[in-house]
Parts: sequence; structure tokens; C-alpha cells
Amino acid sequence: GAMATWHRITALTSLLQVGLLMFSARSSGRLWEKCVGDKSCQAQRTPVVLVPGDLGNQLEAKLDKPSVVHYICYKKTDTFFTLWLNLELLVPVAIDCWIDNIRLIYNRTTHATSSPPGVDIRVPGFGQTYSLEYLDPNKHSVGMYFFTIVQALVEWGYTRDDDVRGAPYDWRKAPNENKEFFLALQQMIEEMAEKSGGPVVLIAHSMGNMYTLYFLNQQPQGWKDRYIKAFVSLGAPWAGVAKTLRVLTSGDNDRIPVISPLKIRSQQRTAVSTSWLLPYAHTWPKDQVLVQTPKFNYTVLDYKQFYSDIGFDDGWLMRQDTEPLVTDLTAPGVAVHCLYGSGIPTSEAFHYSDKFPNVEPTVVSGDGDGTVNLPSARQCGRWVGKQKQPVTLTELPGNEHVNMLLNYTTVAYIKTVLFSP
Ligand SMILES: *[C@@H]1O[C@H](CO)[C@@H](O)[C@H](O)[C@H]1NC(C)=O
Ligand SMILES: *[C@@H]1O[C@H](CO)[C@@H](O)[C@H](O)[C@H]1NC(C)=O
Ligand SMILES: *[C@@H]1O[C@H](CO)[C@@H](O)[C@H](O)[C@H]1NC(C)=O
Repeated sequence: GAMATWHRITALTSLLQVGLLMFSARSSGRLWEKCVGDKSCQAQRTPVVLVPGDLGNQLEAKLDKPSVVHYICYKKTDTFFTLWLNLELLVPVAIDCWIDNIRLIYNRTTHATSSPPGVDIRVPGFGQTYSLEYLDPNKHSVGMYFFTIVQALVEWGYTRDDDVRGAPYDWRKAPNENKEFFLALQQMIEEMAEKSGGPVVLIAHSMGNMYTLYFLNQQPQGWKDRYIKAFVSLGAPWAGVAKTLRVLTSGDNDRIPVISPLKIRSQQRTAVSTSWLLPYAHTWPKDQVLVQTPKFNYTVLDYKQFYSDIGFDDGWLMRQDTEPLVTDLTAPGVAVHCLYGSGIPTSEAFHYSDKFPNVEPTVVSGDGDGTVNLPSARQCGRWVGKQKQPVTLTELPGNEHVNMLLNYTTVAYIKTVLFSP
């Protein structure tokens, strides 16, 4: 009924933190130039690869489970179905089935995660754009993610899945568990560059930037000189984000009233990428309290204790497994355009009562894009002068973390990078 629909729309809106902005952007008449009559379109186009962030592409599941958590849950499906993003699965009760399918199980011996027995998860659409243009295959405009950027490219003469392609991956995991993804990414970049006769521009959002940095750090300089023209980094959490501490402690329903934070916490903790994105000691002041309880003040130096006190010891292992991946912030060795939002209240500390960790915190906010704390976003600045390729920082005041993908300023910036010699 109407209530269910309302819940669904509310859920989707707040989940992605995408407001009505996209409509105003599209109906404002402030469209970028059409290709027609635009000389730049006729020039050789620079191929583009898009790397999404956490939660930033579709995931599919196929089930043949020995048991389920509730009688309404499917035990077996004949085909793959959309697990993310599918709002029908996030309503009460159904969400219990969803959590039991999307959660990961950590093995302390192998330090690897796997799906629960009988759950087969795949990432659809590698090399294509659909799975990151819209997170929801039904193309609800509220699930829109990279669509605005891809559509702009198409208007400049690009062709989807040909010279603009997506690199979706299993964002529940960190790069150490996504080796095949990096091989596929390398191959795709080489193919695109060879086909077009010129190097590729990488455009990443949020955690996709950490993935891209990790990838570039693995490549020899000769490879990067040959295949990469530039790396456009949008809203990167180079030094992690404080919000992950809340996610691990008490869960974060992104203000969706129908989802219980403590319930979703059980799933959120199992995603290794959450622990990978905890604030890093190379940037966060060692005396800055991130989580305050009546018993203890936790800083970046207290994670072992933190994980123990929240009753999630596996998390400390996950953090140790993943912290070294990009903690050095080694310069990527390609031209970098680092764009990030600011001026939006962004969680930077959480105060808990004696009910810690099973209670909602009081939030202390600082500057950032609503998700990424500003000092973290600015860490690309440390590469200025540390590599021979240029590094440009562009702060976008008033840009929210996801909405920056829809903003004309971002789109126009990308155009200058693509069509500059
Ligand atoms: C973890 O992996 C090891 C090695 O593959 C295996 O022997 C063990 O059964 C696994 N542990 C669990 C709890 O599944
Ligand atoms: C935590 O820090 C606050 C603010 O600095 C202080 O008032 C409080 O006493 C500290 N709590 C503990 C347990 O150290
Ligand atoms: C788009 O970005 C510009 C530059 O940061 C900002 O001034 C403007 O408010 C943004 N527009 C929207 C709708 O967020």
C-alpha cells in the first residue's frame, strides 16, 4: 500500500543520501553542451573507466541453503536475483533473510571471508555501466548513482560499455580478497587503451579511490605511463572515515526508521571493508577521542581494545589484515585530480552511555561531505611534489558525498580532463 511505498522511497532516499537534487539538476535546463556542434566530440575520445564506492554497484545472489532464519526466507532459487539494491528485501522480516544472505563469514585461520553455506554471490556487469549507473535494476531514480556522469559522457559522444565502462566489485571485501578484480581491471584498461589508441582516465568515487590507489601502487611506472592519462578522484576517504566506528559499534541504519541499527549491525560488522575504512593514525590526531563511553575514551591507537569491548574480536584481525594495503598512501604515479565536498556536517566522534555498545550514540560533527571527514579527503595533497605528474586539489563547498556525482561542477570538471590534450 501507500505506507509500504512511502517506506520504500524513504529508505532508498536516505540510504543513498540522494535527495531530490537529481531532479533539479536535470530539469534546471543547465545541461552541459550537446555533442552536436561541439568540436571536442569529434576528437579522439579518451576511454573512461568508472570505479564505484562502498555499496556502489549491484550484487546478485543464488541460493541453495541448508537452512533459513525465518520461514518466509527463500531457501533455494533457480536463478540469480538482485541482492543489492533491492528495496523489497529491506522491509521488516525480509531484511532478516537479506542479512543472512549478504553477510560474510570470517575464517581466523585463512584470514579470508566466505558467504554462508549455500549462498552464491556474484557481481554483475563488469565492463558495463548499468550496475553502477543505477543500484536498483528497476532504475528508480532515487537509486541513481553514476548515471549523471555516464549520461553526460554519452552526450559528448561516448558509447556505454565501449569507451566508457564500469569496474564493479564485491565492496564487502577489501582489495586483499579481490585479486581477480584487479586482474580484470588491468586487462580491461589495456584493451580500451589499445582500441582507442590512447591512455585511459580512471574516475573513482569514495572507497573506489582506495581500490584505485591500491591498483596503481601495484603497477610498474612504465605500465601507468602507457595506459593511464589521469585519475579523477571524487570524495576519497584517504585516511578512513570516523563514521565506521559507529557502524561497528551500534550499527547505522542511515536514518531509515524501519531498519533496526542493531540488526543491520550484525551484517555491517561482517563486511571487511568497514574495518578497512576505520580512521588511520597517519592522519587522525593520536589524542582525538573518536568514541567516548563512561569507561573509556577510544582514539586511533585503541582499536584492539575497541573491538574487544564491542564484542567483535574478528574485527581486530580484519583491521590488521587490511590496514597495510594503502596505509602508506604511496603516490599513485599518474596525474591526479582530487575533488571533494566540504561544509556538510560530518560525524567525527560518538558519545555512548553505559549501554555501550547496544545503544544509539550522541554524534559530534565536524567538517566534510557528510560522510568523509575533510582532513581525510585532503590527504591527496601529500602527493604534491612527491611524483612527477601533477596533483590538483579542488574543494567543492556545499557538495554532499553522493550528490557530488550529480553536480554540474563535477561533470564540467571531468569534461575538461577528458578533452584536454
Ligand atoms: C577455516 O579454514 C580452514 C583451512 O581451509 C579450514 O580447515 C577450517 O575448517 C575453516 N574454519 C571454519 C570455521 O570454517
Ligand atoms: C574522556 O574524555 C572526556 C573529555 O575529555 C573526559 O571528561 C572524561 O573524563 C574521559 N573519560 C575517561 C574514562 O577517561
Ligand atoms: C555544486 O557545486 C558547487 C561548487 O562546490 C556548489 O557551489 C553548489 O552548491 C553545488 N550544487 C548543488 C546543487 O549541490
